[in-house]
Amino acid sequence: MFKIDYIKIKFEESLINHYSANEILSMWNLWVLKYIFKISQIDYILNRNYVVLQRHKKQVDNLIKHLLKNQPIQYFFGFTYFKNLKIIINDNVLIPRPETEDLIDIFFSQTNFFSFKKIIDIGTGSGCIAIAIKKKIESHVYAIDICDEALKIAKQNSVANNVQVEYNKIDILNINNHHLLPKIDCIVSNPPYVLPLEVPNDSIIHSEPKNAIFVPPDNPLIFYEAIIKFANSNLNLGGKIFLEINPILISDLTNLIKKYGYFNIKIHNDFYQKKRFIVVSS
Ligand SMILES: C[S@@+](CC[C@H](N)C(=O)[O-])C[C@H]1O[C@@H](n2cnc3c(N)ncnc32)[C@H](O)[C@@H]1O
Repeated sequence: MFKIDYIKIKFEESLINHYSANEILSMWNLWVLKYIFKISQIDYILNRNYVVLQRHKKQVDNLIKHLLKNQPIQYFFGFTYFKNLKIIINDNVLIPRPETEDLIDIFFSQTNFFSFKKIIDIGTGSGCIAIAIKKKIESHVYAIDICDEALKIAKQNSVANNVQVEYNKIDILNINNHHLLPKIDCIVSNPPYVLPLEVPNDSIIHSEPKNAIFVPPDNPLIFYEAIIKFANSNLNLGGKIFLEINPILISDLTNLIKKYGYFNIKIHNDFYQKKRFIVVSS
């Protein structure tokens, strides 16, 4: 028989050389208490003699092993939350980020968002962007990705969240594919944008799929250029493009967008006051 306080001490001691005390505490409060023991933080504080079930102890032991392999906690539980929607994930998809929730807020802050009848999410991954948008509007939402496994998860998320999104496996970098997609009113995308040199070797980011994150250092805007070319052929007049971007690439991207004839460009900051989003109006 194990008391919950003993499990907590073991959790902390096992992880303290790999994670900060704050990270351990937040993993304990936000994941272990909530999703393994299914008790609130208040209940935990009031019932420190609470005796845990053997199977829950085993789950915590397995979680510790997972975390010691430098794997994200979300992959252990198999889900995360994005705009209050439960999103299933596995190691074939990027874990949706809080920054990307801001991209959804920027989309819905446009006075004319309801006039976008056809919207496409390029590089959908878990489907989080497409699903969060479709959850709130009637428009036809398309979503594409190059990765079969990601599309499988995205489809599961559409069913679980009770929304209809039209998914297609398409390589956006192959311009010959662009005609396979319809004319649309709005493009939303959080494409790969991280330069390999930006990420330390021991970063937890390396557990996520490389083709969802990294771009070639000699052509870091490769996805944005493909998206702008796609806009040139498929975006209806009056349409808009919403992009998440690496802040260090913002001025290069602005110049690239202008080169393709778009001059109505607005930059938005993220929570940390970094230039993270671009909205282009055609
Ligand atoms: C940064 S992730 C974004 C995932 C999701 N939209 C989000 O915001 O969490 C980029 C996505 O682009 C996809 N991708 C990579 N190369 C692609 C390509 N050539 N064509 C289409 N999608 C691609 C990856 O599989 C990945 O799911």
